[in-house]
Amino acid sequence: MPSVYIETYGCQMNVADTELMRGHLARSGYTTASDPGEADVILLNTCAIREHAEERIYGRLGALAQHKVRRPHVQIGLAGCMAQHFRDRLLDQTPHLDFVVGPDAYRRLPSLLSGDPFIDVRLDRDETYADLTPARAAGVRAWITIMRGCDKFCTFCIVPYVRGRERSVPAPAVLEQVRDVAAQGYREVVFLGQTVNAYRDRDVDFGALLRATDGIEDIARIRFTSPHPSDMRDSAIEAMASCRSVCPHLHLPVQSGSNPVLQRMERGYDADEYLRLVDRVRAAVPGLALSTDIIVGFPGETERDFEATLELMRAVRFDSAYMFKYSRRDHTKAGKWDESVSEAEKAQRLQAVIALQERIGAEINAEWVGREVEVLVEGPARRRTGWLAGKTRHFKTAVFPADGSSPGDLVRMRVAHSTAHTLVAAA
Ligand code: 5AD
Ligand code: SF4
Repeated sequence: MPSVYIETYGCQMNVADTELMRGHLARSGYTTASDPGEADVILLNTCAIREHAEERIYGRLGALAQHKVRRPHVQIGLAGCMAQHFRDRLLDQTPHLDFVVGPDAYRRLPSLLSGDPFIDVRLDRDETYADLTPARAAGVRAWITIMRGCDKFCTFCIVPYVRGRERSVPAPAVLEQVRDVAAQGYREVVFLGQTVNAYRDRDVDFGALLRATDGIEDIARIRFTSPHPSDMRDSAIEAMASCRSVCPHLHLPVQSGSNPVLQRMERGYDADEYLRLVDRVRAAVPGLALSTDIIVGFPGETERDFEATLELMRAVRFDSAYMFKYSRRDHTKAGKWDESVSEAEKAQRLQAVIALQERIGAEINAEWVGREVEVLVEGPARRRTGWLAGKTRHFKTAVFPADGSSPGDLVRMRVAHSTAHTLVAAA
């Protein structure tokens, strides 16, 4: 039987898509190879969100070409966002590449692999893969894609161009997947979508989906990522407040704290509206943990704009943040604008937001010292032998001395000390 090796780059959606392709290929007779040196098909599931991601993947593609020297039958291919992005150029410019398959063409992968080199990057308004069962990685957490694509067209973002239009998986198919993963022993589900809270299947909106999922037996925790502030409706906030299994953590990308920048980003809200939304969710879900995404150095971002971002971070006090230097992307509106912020200035601004966030994150975590938390055990801690690690309901990494508990167990632990990223039990 032929074997396939898949390497995944980028976000959680890609991790879930890799599981989808693996399941689909397995049903077509492919086994999974854990080493590219043994695989008949080598597939990179790629990311195009920033230039740096694409550079890394090009480098990796060059290195993987060596596998064709001894074993010329090996097929090397690109899937995912970068495949869609460079669709016209890739096969011509990269001689050792055999196929290019976009995010809406995975269904055809098995039949395409049996033929000549190919490129299939048709975007499909309706494809949700609702009927294909992913081959999920073992663990306690199952990722379930509930919607695909994005209609927002924020001016910095390539996603709407490479992932196509927004569409939702039918609610019965989502609920069936949740029951399946529960039966397989997963304890947590994470609903995924580019704008996950834009989910809608007829009269089932995102809040209704959370409510329908809450209480499915053996699923102790429900999370989701990433919601868009403009789609954060009352129904979803109420569901977060009332559903026992929905975790008190919200990843709510803000991108900037400056109104002129938010406007040029076409995010659909200003800083005050974002702050009011945060207040509303915090009022409904006391103790809510918040995380966010921030971009520094967007075209036209002045020192004052940047200060407004720092100010918003101080006002909200996020538990954690993913922080990025703006990266110019093809197709996007902002990609046509002059970059006014130098690379050195971007780097400096990035350092400044990281330093501020580290301080705030450490302060927030210090408030957990002395309190008891519930940890969903995932496995051995990375840096301490003989310790176990897992996440709290607020999505904090927590570590404690091994006590005989196993992955999937919910254990209670008292926090003895903390860092900016971890809660630590007494030794
Ligand atoms: N440059 C930098 N960061 C970006 N993101 C999206 N597009 C870009 C870009 N062109 C960030 C946003 C988004 C996260 C997934 O990636 O913060 O929320
Ligand atoms: Fe990109 Fe904006 Fe869509 Fe998020 S909402 S995927 S940032 S276009």
